[in-house]
Amino acid sequence: MKIVNVKISEHKYDVYIGRDLPGHIAKLLSSLSQEQKVLVVTDKFFEKTYAKLIQTSLNDRDFDCSIHVMSGGKSSKSFNEVLRIYGELEVNNFARDSVLIALGGGVIGDLAGFVASTWYRGMAFVHVPTTLMAMIDSSIGGKVAINYRDTINAVGNYYHPVANFMDLNLIDSLSERDYLSGLAEVIKCAFIADNDFVDYLLKHKEQILKRSQGYLVHSMQRTIKIKVDHVHNDVREGGKRLLLNYGHTMGHAIEMATRTENGESFRHGEGVALGMVAAASVAQSHLSTTVEIGRQIRDILKKYKLPTFFSASELGFKRDELIESCARLILKDKKRKNNQLRFILVNQLGKANVYTGISKEHVIQAFQAVIRG
Ligand SMILES: NC(=O)c1ccc[n+]([C@@H]2O[C@H](COP(=O)([O-])OP(=O)(O)OC[C@H]3O[C@@H](n4cnc5c(N)ncnc54)[C@H](O)[C@@H]3O)[C@@H](O)[C@H]2O)c1
Repeated sequence: MKIVNVKISEHKYDVYIGRDLPGHIAKLLSSLSQEQKVLVVTDKFFEKTYAKLIQTSLNDRDFDCSIHVMSGGKSSKSFNEVLRIYGELEVNNFARDSVLIALGGGVIGDLAGFVASTWYRGMAFVHVPTTLMAMIDSSIGGKVAINYRDTINAVGNYYHPVANFMDLNLIDSLSERDYLSGLAEVIKCAFIADNDFVDYLLKHKEQILKRSQGYLVHSMQRTIKIKVDHVHNDVREGGKRLLLNYGHTMGHAIEMATRTENGESFRHGEGVALGMVAAASVAQSHLSTTVEIGRQIRDILKKYKLPTFFSASELGFKRDELIESCARLILKDKKRKNNQLRFILVNQLGKANVYTGISKEHVIQAFQAVIRG
């Protein structure tokens, strides 16, 4: 088992990466907690499998562990779901020292973390992320949130777990699409902070795509360290943490604008991949970076089977209208500062900076680069 020590401002905890971790979770909790009550928040996918393994391991050590099953899906990051979990905590007399375990992808981690951060102003919280995205991104850095009406992550908090367990057995059952979506965040971290890591990802593409353990664990550790390094002294996103939003401003707009009544057109990581290609176009027009950097960015994303452009009509949209709605969403993006558009751009691989003063024209051109007819 690999252990990554995390220190984010005054919070310290360990990330455990290995296989068959329920027994380790129970062992660690017995050493950390005097309190016997534990609630595992999860969805149907894990109810009878991994959640049961955690419950059995904990109950064997005299814990009183119950399981809360939520419907899952992005719509469950809601006040209604929060109230349902509060209800369960109250009826079963969960106190401040009781433990809440989030077992699931980013949706469950964000929601359960929000509940843990607010119940008695903060109860003990453990992450057991089950998607690659949740492992290397959403469970690290302390952001927890729920949506309010149509506004994503509108109500939230900063809250850190006492431990984070990443069981590689869970990666095995991930769909190809969800796995690749998680890899987009891995690639993003390399682009903004570590050119040697970019080389590593290029060199070991076959093994990483095959989920080969040693290469995957190395990539996860590297990504987690980059994320922690950017969050450590900047939990509230005043400076360095902002760089982690590379690809997110335009990616998020594409994700939102292409949502239909059938749900999302793109996974989060796919949106980020498209956003990074769009950001490369902005860098070219605004910073005069070379065409070569944009080519390298597209090249590595393609090697990892991530989208670098898409057809508006195939998703049922008119190209010009879709570009216009993406641009509108950018203009109301919360990362705007003093009414100026603020973008994270990579001016050489492994190095990113924050830039303002980007014109709407350059934004439109960037969307044109990724949205085809
Ligand atoms: N807090 C943060 O810093 C942060 C960062 C990035 C994303 N997020 C949030 O994370 C969410 C997206 O997270 P996600 O990409 O993990 O998606 P998700 O939580 O929606 O999970 C995706 C799907 O995968 C299934 N699944 C989960 N684990 C599985 C496994 N091991 N095997 C098979 N299927 C499995 C789930 O049941 C779900 O249907 C969004 O709500 C986003 O806002 C938060």
